[in-house]
Amino acid sequence: MRTLVFSLAFTSLAGLALAQAPNAAGRQQFETRCAHCHGGDATGGEGGPNIIDQIDSRTQSELADFLRTGRPASGMPAFDLPAADMTALTAYVRTLVPVPSGDPPPEVRKKIQTTDGRTLEGRVLNEGMNDLQMVTADRRIHLLRKAANDRYREVTSQTDWSTYHGDPSGNRYTKLTQIDKSNVARLAPMWVFAVPNVQQVQNTPIVAGGIMYVSSANEVYALDAGTGRPVWHYQRARTKGLVGNASGGFNRGVAISGDRLFMLTDNAHIMSLNRFNGELLWETEMADWHQNYNGTSAPLVVGNLVITGTAGGDEGVRGFVAAYEAATGKEVWRFWTIPKPPEPGSETWKGNSWMHGAASTWMTGTYDPQLDMVYWPAGNPGPDFNGDNRDGDNLYSDSILALDVKTGKLKWYFQFTPHDIHDWDAEEPPVLIDTNWQGQPRKLLIQANRNGFFYVFDRATGQLLLAKPFIKKLNWAKEIDKNGRPVLNDIKEQANGESLVCPGIQGGTNWYSTSFNPGTGLYYIQALERCNYYSKRDLEWQAGKGYMAGVARPDPDETFVKSLRAINIQTGAIAWDLPQGAARFPGSAGVISTASGLVFFGENSGSFMAADAANGKVLWDFPANQGWHASPMTYMFDNKQYIAIASGLNIIAFALPE
Ligand code: HEC
Repeated sequence: MRTLVFSLAFTSLAGLALAQAPNAAGRQQFETRCAHCHGGDATGGEGGPNIIDQIDSRTQSELADFLRTGRPASGMPAFDLPAADMTALTAYVRTLVPVPSGDPPPEVRKKIQTTDGRTLEGRVLNEGMNDLQMVTADRRIHLLRKAANDRYREVTSQTDWSTYHGDPSGNRYTKLTQIDKSNVARLAPMWVFAVPNVQQVQNTPIVAGGIMYVSSANEVYALDAGTGRPVWHYQRARTKGLVGNASGGFNRGVAISGDRLFMLTDNAHIMSLNRFNGELLWETEMADWHQNYNGTSAPLVVGNLVITGTAGGDEGVRGFVAAYEAATGKEVWRFWTIPKPPEPGSETWKGNSWMHGAASTWMTGTYDPQLDMVYWPAGNPGPDFNGDNRDGDNLYSDSILALDVKTGKLKWYFQFTPHDIHDWDAEEPPVLIDTNWQGQPRKLLIQANRNGFFYVFDRATGQLLLAKPFIKKLNWAKEIDKNGRPVLNDIKEQANGESLVCPGIQGGTNWYSTSFNPGTGLYYIQALERCNYYSKRDLEWQAGKGYMAGVARPDPDETFVKSLRAINIQTGAIAWDLPQGAARFPGSAGVISTASGLVFFGENSGSFMAADAANGKVLWDFPANQGWHASPMTYMFDNKQYIAIASGLNIIAFALPE
């Protein structure tokens, strides 16, 4: 029963079904030759993908041509059929079309009594032995649990995680204290959800009113946050021929506001879905993906705007941050991260190098409601590794951009790494905190940057207050001078053209989450002690190609060390350090800290761990045995605090057992 209900919901929500079959011979061909791979309704099966989207764009004879050659290397066999069979088959295949939206999907309906005396009637989205998820005529989703006398209890949801970092400040800190130092040792997995069709899950789930949203490229799953059971699923075909990170299938998250959900498509569109049923409400092309733009980050909702950037920093796009009306998708403003001649700053690029100078905006920015400013991080200049044809500082690559929310006008900026040739994006979270600075309350922005320095700013003015290294292996600069400019070391190129630079391409830290804990006054980050041999080559920009003009090679004799590090933000001193287990590759796991004095983090040899925020002592260890590519989040559901993280291809949600 359970499987049946789920597969019905799955198919109907993809919005696809069979049109009436016009020819029995063609149908028989399809069912005997194709269905065991592509599924009886062509929406995908064990051996082949959903092909409905591919059919509409092909004529009958183009389809026949394709079938005669197939694509054996990727698992699609060639079919050499007699002409009559081929004609019948291709005619039939052409009738496999998406059902126009608005058609009622097949339904399993139920009428139940709740423990508080209500009658709910609606369509079943999913069902387990002890839980039921259904949607009523008002389109609301009800998450129900079996109680006594065949009644159902409707769950309650106390604390959401409603934006990528849980809070627009970008600080992954929670006031939830159910899980604390005394009980964290008992923390256990409550449920697992395997994300289909992906090689890597880099997602941070969002939770709103008890529904969890998990995304991968062009797909969103809405789950019951107490069981992980899917309630709806949105999917569209991946973009063929895409370059950049989105082509790897991952998506870091969605945004929500009211009844709406917002996400980027793999090909740099922004779209809005109804968050209760996954229906597409609007879609706007942000940039032409044929020019190497792609989309991986979670947008940020600010009032009636949805603000976002794009990926494409290693493919030579020209970066921008843009704001769209949440209700319509209409673009309200756009800030280009690379000024075009004769705008101020364009003189920091030689010749036409600005056109493919990257400075892409592949992570979510942060927001201060009082100053009404967003703080958006900009990525490395392109091409990576070779700056010969882009003399100058290359503004605003590797910068933090403080933008006025209403207009998108630049209020201030700070460039961490002028004329970068080491891929040191400034995409680490720009965390906004209000705390004392030298005894006075101050609005601060803090960031541990990929270049190995930790920075503190006054976020109203952009004034730099502190810049100190947070890693030991750092050889590219002696210090940051009082104007914020790095004082460079003269790194000699070796005879083979390589230069040994620390940190290496993965940076002293990277895009994963960080957390400032007001209880300890410490800032928790994951640091990497590692150097790389860098070398460069000549490379022209091309559509559909990467734009990395060189390599960063690890030193085979070096043992890298990943560690959880607590920074005293007043001085930049390291308060404590927790070096982690060895792994072949350094992981990319973020952290979250709690008001109950815990820091959760993905440990490098594959454990999910909790440490004491005061001293770094490990208090809990769950061996997940996965390389990390994601950051943890937390929420309160049915009076239980959950901590969830993407581990391998799964979302795992932990809580205290009864
Ligand atoms: C053994 C499994 C298998 C069988 C049998 C099979 N296919 Fe496929 N088919 C695939 C796979 C795998 C792909 C994806 C290939 C790729 O990724 O390039 C595919 C791709 C396709 C595509 C999409 C091509 C594109 O543009 O990407 C179409 C259309 C298609 N198949 C039609 C058919 C039809 C019609 C039949 C029956 C005559 C059939 N397939 C039988 C495995 C199969």
